[in-house]
Amino acid sequence: MRRALVPAAVVVAVLAAGCGTTDSHGGAPNAGGPLRGLAQRAGIAIGTAVDAGALSRDDGYRAELPREFSSVTPENAMKWAALEPERGKPDWAGADALVDFAGAHRMRVRGHTLVWYSQNPDWLTGGNFSRAELVGLLRAHIAAVVGRYRGRVGTWDVVNEPIADSGSGLRDSIWSQVIGPDYIATALRAARAADPQAKLFINETAADGIGPKSDALYALVKGLLAGHVPLDGVGFQMHAELAHGLVPGVRRNFRRFAALGLEVNVTEADVAVKLPATAADRGRQGEIYREMLDDCLAVRACRSFTVWGFTDRYSWIPTGEPGFGAATLLDDNLDPKPAYDAVARALRDDAR
Ligand code: G3I
Repeated sequence: MRRALVPAAVVVAVLAAGCGTTDSHGGAPNAGGPLRGLAQRAGIAIGTAVDAGALSRDDGYRAELPREFSSVTPENAMKWAALEPERGKPDWAGADALVDFAGAHRMRVRGHTLVWYSQNPDWLTGGNFSRAELVGLLRAHIAAVVGRYRGRVGTWDVVNEPIADSGSGLRDSIWSQVIGPDYIATALRAARAADPQAKLFINETAADGIGPKSDALYALVKGLLAGHVPLDGVGFQMHAELAHGLVPGVRRNFRRFAALGLEVNVTEADVAVKLPATAADRGRQGEIYREMLDDCLAVRACRSFTVWGFTDRYSWIPTGEPGFGAATLLDDNLDPKPAYDAVARALRDDAR
């Protein structure tokens, strides 16, 4: 076992609950899930993004979720457009349902996300607000959302995808344009004030390896820490595509962020496959998932590994990246793919 975080009694209970050879998927071969027990033995959280619609109506999905995962991230339900489609008329239904479900199944919740360039309500993006007004709206939003889930959402992706894809400066958004670079510190401070116990993260895409974008992220984070802005960790999304595999330097990158005293999490792992996916594709996909997880397990500060959806039945990839799909651990029938076995094996090997 990599870390002595799990009391022996818990390990015994987890083993008794079936993390050895029992197949949790109705007969298909696997490498000894459920993942949740294996991850606990390895000393990390294993998470997934959750589709609020699926959670409300798909019994198979609802059954699989807490068996396999110890952490959930709302895929869309906590984004500003979902929470406040009309100004001053919040709709907490989807987010509440997920937080309640997680509580009932002793799962952690990763709140996603408080400030982003995308999925903001039209009244916000089209409101022509002044800088002072926008700062006020951002602070009030964060106070309301983080305050509502205080003590129940343990980690927040406070700022999502702040760096420009080129790596030269901040991404253009209503926040960077109207408020300026300070919007990041403003958001983090507001989140800390609303729940001093919650872990606060910046979550970034396409910054997994070493390169201009992760260099810019590193500089940003270093500056925030130097200015005593509250920040506990950095999330690396790790959306990958089968044909390209992983970018080089992931471990080195994780380690330099960890050396700043930060937690490192993998937050949105998936591996998109050009359709139709062949058996060879599925095998190679498993290898990529394993590399991702091994990169996390190799770095002590990497304490959580989240996949962006766990079944091809609900993955965002076919609509988000037309022509691609089959990106997750379980197929449309919720049966395990080689990727599931690869993740289970990586956890089991580490936990030995
Ligand atoms: O909410 C509307 C609904 O009212 C409408 O009827 C429906 C019709 O298509 O669309 C709904 O909005 C969709 C939304 O998901 C909620 O389901 C959007 O069209 C769709 O574009 C949106 O996609 C989400 C995407 O973020 C938006 O950028 C994906 O589900 C979600 O997986 C994805 O997640 C992001 C992370 O938050 C950040 N990192 C990248 C990742 C993948 O893009």
